[in-house]
This record gives sequence, C-alpha cells and structure tokens, in this order.
Amino acid sequence: MNPIVYALLFSLVAGLAVAEKSEYCLTEIVNSAERMESHGYPTETHQVVTEDGYVLTLFRLPYSHKLNNQNEKRTPVLLQHGLFSNSDCWLSSGPDNSLAYLLADAGYDVWLGNARGNIYSRENNLISLNSHKFWHFDWHEIGTIDIPAMIDYILEATGHSKLHYAGHSQGTTVYLVLLSERPEYSEKIKSGHLLAPCAFFEHGTSFVFKALGPLVGTPGGIWNQLLVDTELIPHNNLVNRVVDNSCHYASAICDNAFIMFANGGYVNANASSMKVLIETHPAGSSSNQGIHYLQLWESKEFRQYDWGTKKNNEIYGQDLPPDYDLSLITAPTHSYSSNNDALCGPKDVDTMVKNFVHLKEDYRVPVQSFNHLDFIIARNMKELVNDPIIKRINSYEGR
Ligand SMILES: *[C@@H]1O[C@H](CO)[C@@H](O)[C@H](O)[C@H]1NC(C)=O
Repeated sequence: MNPIVYALLFSLVAGLAVAEKSEYCLTEIVNSAERMESHGYPTETHQVVTEDGYVLTLFRLPYSHKLNNQNEKRTPVLLQHGLFSNSDCWLSSGPDNSLAYLLADAGYDVWLGNARGNIYSRENNLISLNSHKFWHFDWHEIGTIDIPAMIDYILEATGHSKLHYAGHSQGTTVYLVLLSERPEYSEKIKSGHLLAPCAFFEHGTSFVFKALGPLVGTPGGIWNQLLVDTELIPHNNLVNRVVDNSCHYASAICDNAFIMFANGGYVNANASSMKVLIETHPAGSSSNQGIHYLQLWESKEFRQYDWGTKKNNEIYGQDLPPDYDLSLITAPTHSYSSNNDALCGPKDVDTMVKNFVHLKEDYRVPVQSFNHLDFIIARNMKELVNDPIIKRINSYEGR
C-alpha cells in the first residue's frame, strides 16, 4: 500500500480524537440549493424531523425552468447520497451530466435527501450535536428512520402515493435496510435504482478494508471501543488542514481525496466535478457507519450492527445480529454496478442478486474501468448510468 495514502488515512482517523466539532461554518459553503440556483433552477429547502429528533434537510428541484412545467404532473424522485457524502453528489457534474438536473429536465420533481449527521442534517431537537448520543446511530437508523421520514414527507407534500428512488453506495444500503426491515414501504416505491449497490463485502478489495477491518471490524476490540459513537472524518478545520498539507506534499492525494473509494485510479473521473465535491466533503457521518461496514467485511453477512454477544442478546435476543432479509423487498428495483468497484465489487453484487429474489434487473456498466465513485463523477456517467436510469423511470410513467 502507498505509505502516503496510509499516512493520510491514519491522520484522518487520529484526527477523530481531537475533532473540533462543528468548527466549519455552513455560511462559508455554497449549499445544494444555491448551487442549483446558480444554474438557473428553481429550488426549495425543506426540513423533516424524525421521530428521534434529527432535523434532516431535503433540497428540492421542483421543476425545470427549461420546461416551465410547474403546472404539469411531476412524479417525485428521491435521491440519496453515499457515506461521507451529501446532496451535492447529485449536482457536482453540472446540469448537462448530473442526475438531479437531468431528472428535472426530464419532467420530474426531484428531492435530494441528507442523512442524519451530514453537514446539512446536524441538528437534533432532543440531543446536542456535541453529545456522543448524537452520533449513536449508523446506516441502520438512516434506513429505518430517516428514509421513511423523507418518503412520507415528500408523498404528503406532493399528494402522490409513490415515488421513484435512486441511491448511491450507502444510499443503496439504506434502501435495502428500509425495505427489508419495514417491507410495507415497498408499496410507496414506484421504482428503485441502486448505483454501486452495497450490501455484501466479502470480496471488497479497497485498502480501507485491509487497513481497518482487522482493527475495528470485530466487536469488543479496543479500536472499536475508542471509535464508537463519534463523528467520523468531520468536515472541519483539522481534516481540511490534513488534506491541504497532504495536497502540498503529494498532489496525487489532492486529486484523490476520495481515494478509499477507488483502487483503480480515476480514468473516467471529471476532475472539475471532484473539485466541486471537495468543497463540501467529507460531509460528516458517525463512526458507527464505518464500523458497521467493516463488520460486514469481516462477517461476510449483510446484517445488523454487532455489539458483541452480551449486548446482542439484550438487543436482538440472540448471540449474533439478525440478517437483513432481501427476499422481503418487492418494490421494482434495478441494480447498476461496475467491474472496478473496490468497495462493492461484482462478486458481492452477485451475492446481493442471489438474495434479492424480486430484483428486476442486474445492469452492469459495460466499461471495465468504471469504479465506485464514477457513478457520481465520471465524464461518461451520463450515457452509461444516468440516461439508462431516466429511460427506466420513464417506462414506469408510461413514457
Ligand atoms: C465536469 O464537471 C464540471 C463541473 O461541474 C461540469 O461543468 C462539466 O460539464 C462536467 N463534464 C462532464 C463531461 O461531466
């Protein structure tokens, strides 16, 4: 492994211990709504409060100024970002390439979700951001609480009974969690589109698994104890300083701030799009989200958080955490995966497909070098991913 990469990763993790919570200033960044407005689109900003007090921001592109279709029927589409990310991931390649704009221009009412803990969803009416309790969640709660809260809010606001959903990476995990844990939500999904679907990690080749898996993937270990319930790689001065300094010494890292997502280099990446993303990334998440993923890599199962035998028995009534049962998902769902994905690669997608008995389609991007992050930043993602998604969504609308 490249020692510089390892040093960067280590600094980021070590930075947790002294993380200056909420040090960044939201007014200094261009938020998703402002970004969309800068391209001439109408926007709205909505807040959804979850049953456990988290205030989630939904950005909305209600219609396209190019179509002037505000009075026509527009089926809502919810787009959900990945780990360390936020709603900007659907915008960073601009109106000609990014999915949010393309969907709006295809006549849809586009809603961009933000999971608890990211820079747009860092409030809780009951818990302070600086309390460890605030960070006591992982993507299980995002899937079982945040996503259904967003779906219900959008359906209520638009008067529709179903919406289309597209998620990237963790945005696919939370979809699978929601629909296996609360299968009645399949009724509210007109179609689902999973980009770089992440459920099984047995074959994950990213160096992150190898570097951190043995340290924190097993419950009860010291690293696990240290890291649980804290903010992971926050968007703050410290982390920015580490990234800046690393950029200074090795420009490769500058271009590779998302290095953990791609072993295979960036042959398809749009460098300008990455620069846009870096303004608001990493976007904040709980350490438990990362730990839970590493547990899946260790266990080779897609199952709930492992708290160790004693606590598992208290919480789940069994020694090991229960599996997520993908066979319960009935919403029409399309998977879009790629060969060069170091986190959620083709063999692990095979396992998902085998378990997801009602899966409608298993599309593999026909470019071998396409990687995990290319679904968000590739120069060729419009033809390879976004146009195919819109074509499929249109088919559910009878178009
Ligand atoms: C690359 O990203 C920039 C910045 O958002 C955007 O203006 C440009 O259209 C993108 N190009 C492609 C081919 O994705």
